[in-house]
Amino acid sequence: MAIQNVGVIGCGLMGHGIAQVAAQGGYEVTAIETDPAALEKGLKRIEGSLAKLVEKAKLRSEEASAVRNRVHPSTKLSDAATCDLVIEAIVENLDVKKKLFAELGRVTPAHAILASNTSSFPIAEMGEASGRPQKMVGLHFFNPVQLMGLVEVVRTPKTEESAFQAAFEFARRCGKTPVAAKDTPGFIVNRLLVPYLLDAIRAYEEGVGSIEDIDSAMKLGCGYPMGPFTLLDFVGLDTTYYITHVMYDEFKERRFASPPLLKRLVMAGWYGRKSGKGFYDYADPDNPKPNPL
Ligand code: 3HC
Repeated sequence: MAIQNVGVIGCGLMGHGIAQVAAQGGYEVTAIETDPAALEKGLKRIEGSLAKLVEKAKLRSEEASAVRNRVHPSTKLSDAATCDLVIEAIVENLDVKKKLFAELGRVTPAHAILASNTSSFPIAEMGEASGRPQKMVGLHFFNPVQLMGLVEVVRTPKTEESAFQAAFEFARRCGKTPVAAKDTPGFIVNRLLVPYLLDAIRAYEEGVGSIEDIDSAMKLGCGYPMGPFTLLDFVGLDTTYYITHVMYDEFKERRFASPPLLKRLVMAGWYGRKSGKGFYDYADPDNPKPNPL
């Protein structure tokens, strides 16, 4: 059956962007966030992003209003009862996610597809928690969701072909290029990206170059949009650190293990751009300065 109503659980960094691109794709979106202040903040971000798209003439102002009107905010999980697809984008904590999927298994209709935007946790485990593993997929968007063109669509051995195909088509209608990935830690992108980012930290620890020079080298030498330290601060050092746990735990290979410096920064609460400090200091956000580490 065709997807019409989409629920997005969590309206933070990823959730607000997913709600927005789904509404841009023409879906009616229920944006569910239990914390009213976080919900308000997420809606403001959507409005800010739509305003930017209008300003850049990428969207007409009446289209932007229609998109905004298709996003229906809610603080109640029970509002997922009308959804054909529900995408979870909450905190990266497997126990919390499994509790949520158990609840979603109860409140959503039997035909509903359940999806997680997790970067690395097993989709199969969340599917089992929901009681409907045949309807469970991964829909992994990239930050910033409005600008990044990719969605990894992840299937488990139990995912029904029809659920997978519907999720794939959903990603397309959101204006993204979907790729199929198996349910392995980090899927495709983080499997390759995370060892590169960790190697950049190890190179810095070993004195190969300064933070700024390693960033410039990869940006200008390889044509990457951001150097590894700018990207680490952008993704979040805490997020990267959690991903290393899942990947190292599974593969037991050094290339997936957290370097000591990453752990120290996370322990200090230096999560990158979002906390104001990471490999760079964002006191002046337009002109970040490398921290002496
Ligand atoms: N909504 C709408 N428009 C926006 C916007 C938003 N939220 N943010 C920026 N824009 C617009 C800008 O106004 C600008 O418009 P213009 O080109 O017409 O002037 C355009 O989009 C580009 O914005 P910027 O000039 O700020 O952006 P850059 O050209 O510097 O590119 C970037 C920004 C896309 C973030 C680029 O630096 C990039 O691709 N960086 C790498 C990001 C990346 O690798 N992300 C993946 C991380 S891994 C991940 O997410 C997985 C997870 O599991 C860890």
